[in-house]
Order: sequence, then C-alpha cells, then structure tokens
Amino acid sequence: MKSGSLLVLLVAAVPQYAPVAVPAELRPALQRAEDAVRAAACEAERKFGEGDPDLNAARCADAKKVAGVEVGRTSARLRNPRNSPPAWAREYVLATDGRKAAAVAPLVFDLGDRVGLLSPIEIRQRCLGCHAAQDSLSPATRAWLRSAYPKDRALGYALGDLRGFWWAEASKKDRQAE
Ligand code: HEC
Repeated sequence: MKSGSLLVLLVAAVPQYAPVAVPAELRPALQRAEDAVRAAACEAERKFGEGDPDLNAARCADAKKVAGVEVGRTSARLRNPRNSPPAWAREYVLATDGRKAAAVAPLVFDLGDRVGLLSPIEIRQRCLGCHAAQDSLSPATRAWLRSAYPKDRALGYALGDLRGFWWAEASKKDRQAE
C-alpha cells in the first residue's frame, strides 16, 4: 500500500459526530471549543467587522479566550494560504466546498487527547464587498486584494454560500481548571 492511501485510512478512522450526538465524555471539551470559536468570531467582528454577523452584542459580551484551545478560520478556497485547514479537517472542508451554508452541518472530531470542531461560516451581504466576483468589487478593494493576496482564491462567492469554517482544537483536559 502506498503511504498516501494509508494516510487516507488513518484520517478516515477519526470518529466524527454531530454536536448533539457527541458522547458525554467529549462534551466538556466540545463546550470549550464552541466557547473559543465564539470568542474568536466576536474578536474578528470587533476588529474587522467581518466575523459571524449572527453574533450579536449580547452573545459577545461574555466571550473570552479559552485556555488550551486553538482556533482558526479556514476554507477550501483560501485568500491567505496560511489559513489552510488542520489535517483532520481537510476532508470535510474540501467535500463541502460549493454548497450553501444552510446545507452544511457543524462536525465534531475525536482526536484522541483533543476534540476538534468545524463550524460553518456563511456568506452574508456585507461579505460580498470582499468575497464576491472580482469585477463586482470596488477598484480600490480589488487593487488592495491583488497586492496583499496574490494567491487569492476567495472570490466569486454569492449570498448564502458556504465560505469556510471556524475550526477549534480543544484539549480534553480542562486547562482552565488547572
Ligand atoms: C474588507 C474586506 C473583507 C470583508 C468585508 C470580509 N472579508 Fe473575509 N477576508 C478578508 C481578508 C483580507 C482575508 C484574509 C485574512 C488573513 O490574512 O488571514 C479574509 C479571510 C477570510 C476567511 C479565512 C479563510 C481565507 O480565505 O483565508 C474567511 C473564512 C472569511 N474571510 C470569511 C468572511 C465572511 C464570512 C465575511 C462576512 C461576514 C467576510 N469574510 C468579509 C477580507 C474581507
């Protein structure tokens, strides 16, 4: 067997669950992963006005970083190549590309000592200014994106499209409790 196909088998062997169906022992880490994603989305919202627009001020009021949890944003069509998905997330990120966000569910992964979470991100009206088809962007935005992100693949999206995911990796051990 080639090492490539062995890798596929190993990745496929990671147990995956819908958030409502996760085994009880994974729930505390899933909760921390969800809290960490919420904090990161609120932070993006505050900084760039481009986080999850569904996160209203009330939901963000008590959002704070969670110890022992890594968080990032990713997509099958990246603007910044440094946002590529972690290995465990790759398959789902690629498989769901091109769908409407409403047709894509969050997914939880049992990663051994950690729990992984993928949470879908939808294209809203105000994302279009920077993620719609190239010729519909303002000339200034187009010029900025061209120079800052020469490998930009995150154009051509429409309202309701799946843009990508928040991902989180939460240690099963509660680092905050330590
Ligand atoms: C003002 C322009 C602008 C707007 C508006 C905008 N984005 Fe972005 N987006 C960017 C830039 C620039 C990056 C690259 C950030 C980086 O370097 O990590 C990016 C990156 C992302 C990424 C990370 C994956 C990647 O391709 O690198 C996601 C996911 C994303 N945007 C979703 C959204 C969503 C959802 C909205 C609307 C709620 C939105 N963006 C609105 C400019 C924008």
